[in-house]
Amino acid sequence: MPDTDVREFPMPRAAGCPFDPPPALKELQEEAPIARVRLPDGATAWVVTRHADQRAVLADRRVSSDMTHPGYPRGGPVREGPGKIGFILMDDPEHARLRKMVTAPFMIKRVEAMRPAIQRIVDDRIDAMLAGPNPVDLVEAFALPVPSLVICELLGVPYRDHDLFQHNSRQLISRSAPIEQRGAAFQALHDYLDDLLAEKLERPGDDLLSGLLERVRAGELTRGDAAGIGVLLLIAGHETTANMIALGTMALLDNPSQLALLRDTDDPKVIAGAVEELLRYLNITHNGRRRVALEDLEVAGRLVRAGEGLIMANDIGNRDPSVFDDPDRLDVTRDARRHVAFGFGVHQCLGQPLARVELQVVYRTLYRRVPTLALAVDRDRIPFKHDSVIYGVHELPVRW
Ligand code: HEM
Repeated sequence: MPDTDVREFPMPRAAGCPFDPPPALKELQEEAPIARVRLPDGATAWVVTRHADQRAVLADRRVSSDMTHPGYPRGGPVREGPGKIGFILMDDPEHARLRKMVTAPFMIKRVEAMRPAIQRIVDDRIDAMLAGPNPVDLVEAFALPVPSLVICELLGVPYRDHDLFQHNSRQLISRSAPIEQRGAAFQALHDYLDDLLAEKLERPGDDLLSGLLERVRAGELTRGDAAGIGVLLLIAGHETTANMIALGTMALLDNPSQLALLRDTDDPKVIAGAVEELLRYLNITHNGRRRVALEDLEVAGRLVRAGEGLIMANDIGNRDPSVFDDPDRLDVTRDARRHVAFGFGVHQCLGQPLARVELQVVYRTLYRRVPTLALAVDRDRIPFKHDSVIYGVHELPVRW
């Protein structure tokens, strides 16, 4: 493709198969694995569509996650004002310094110790759902409360405030909400976390936020940065997993033989494998991993110049046929562990052990305890989150 060729960046997933990346991304993967695209704000960036190239760029220290850099492929106006969303948009060494402060609670051993508590939360929510109205919206009754309760417990955030943080998180990651609204949502979350930290300063608990305050006391962290990290963990901790639960359930209801494999097994390895496959197949972070080149670098045989933006479209990376056979088929028995649904490189998802345990418990429990679970409306009436940075369904009416 000549340099002058610039295509529109294909975003929404097709109405026919709402689980598949846009067909235009597949064409690019076959014909032009790195291509110039135009973003909604008129800026151009490179889109990288092959799995190996995506991992190479994401592991490359010559690219930056700093959104305030002029070449960063934002696609729209950037939120102004004080306060940062944790360390996700920072570069090393500051990124590594802050990330290290919250790594321990997300280590596999610590998260495994939470499995019984997560199982209790899942069982309780299923009990409550079964005792309530039928049909019901699975998002509201189950998919959103489960990870919200878990992350609240871990951070030391009172779950009774869930309306506030769920509403503002949705606004913040919306692609259609005006920039002022997103800014106000961030501010509301930041203020909320800051107030909570002030309370914990007086009465510390045995939780992650209280742990962060020790860093504040030691002068290693400002309270503002601690609140920013709290915002990041609170949002990332519930929105992503909630979407995987609801969208995963819809994908399994669409593929009854796969659902049966999952429901009828007692083997934790089979369940863990199914979780990886659903992460690969659904790739809810459909906005792509975004970076800006700090130096000239070569990607898939093309020169990317310093200051140019790069989008690693991990949804199509997860459908790369050179890594996954018959990639558009949901096959819960395949080995999907090389997926890039959690990103790659230094920013690879910090919460992945927690997300994995939550999804394993949910997928293992929900369909066994509610074996007659079915959609309560026509499939075409399910509203998808095309308008959000994180893909999923706004509602999933189900009956049993
Ligand atoms: C299925 C659920 C999840 C998915 C698909 C997911 C996906 C991702 C992805 C793709 C990134 C990389 C961002 C980048 O490269 O720019 C990321 C980063 C991150 N995730 Fe997750 N995530 C999930 C669950 C969670 C949970 C439960 C937490 C817990 C708090 C969490 C916390 C984080 C944090 C803190 C980062 C930033 C890491 C860094 O910048 O070093 N995530 N996640």
